[in-house]
Amino acid sequence: MSDEIHAEHREGRTDVEAERFWEDHYGRHERVWSGRANPVLVDVVELLPPGTALDLGCGEGGDAIWLAGLGWRVTAVDLSVTALDRAAADAATAGVAERIDFQRHDLAVTFPSGAFDLVSAQYLHSPVEFPRDRVLRAAASAVTHGGLLLIVDHASISPGSWAEPEETLAPLGLSPDEWRTERLEAREREATGPNGRRITVTDNIIAVRRLTRE
Ligand SMILES: C[S@@+](CC[C@H](N)C(=O)[O-])C[C@H]1O[C@@H](n2cnc3c(N)ncnc32)[C@H](O)[C@@H]1O
Repeated sequence: MSDEIHAEHREGRTDVEAERFWEDHYGRHERVWSGRANPVLVDVVELLPPGTALDLGCGEGGDAIWLAGLGWRVTAVDLSVTALDRAAADAATAGVAERIDFQRHDLAVTFPSGAFDLVSAQYLHSPVEFPRDRVLRAAASAVTHGGLLLIVDHASISPGSWAEPEETLAPLGLSPDEWRTERLEAREREATGPNGRRITVTDNIIAVRRLTRE
């Protein structure tokens, strides 16, 4: 993986600032995320039959490993080699490595090929320049007919600034002839904040299903 990164740098393909930010973010701690699957993903996907899944911005792999444990074949993508290496090690420990294809992409530049029954973007936010709408449109294009696009966002990504789920959905320009909105809502949940304090956070949930062809 590291060799690929060096090759990409030589060819000038990677956003160096984004990579530096996220490598620094992961490098500062032995582990950044809990390792558990995100609760909305669990809620929405638990009862679906396993198929192929694409996890965008997979971080340390909690979601991908959970999905693989249920029998999904997962392509899990992140910009950070540190995060991907941790995810791959955990997948091996969990005995699901053969069901997860970890791929390094700067999604601003390249997007994994293929079509997937589930495309999941959980908190795919970045404080560094990131063409989120364009990446999420590519995410929608990668959903199979009959498949699901699930986007979960922090409703507040900076103090005092709130977003509505419609603000994520509208720029995707999904035709109602081809897509059915299954969930479009803001939902509160309890989380652990700085210093271990219990806090309430709000998630924006967008779940849209691509209709099967007649
Ligand atoms: C807020 S974290 C969410 C991680 C994970 N989905 C979760 O829910 O725990 C955002 C993730 O997106 C990744 N990311 C940010 N910019 C990216 C880019 N341009 N291409 C690919 N991944 C990116 C980061 O490395 C990070 O792992």
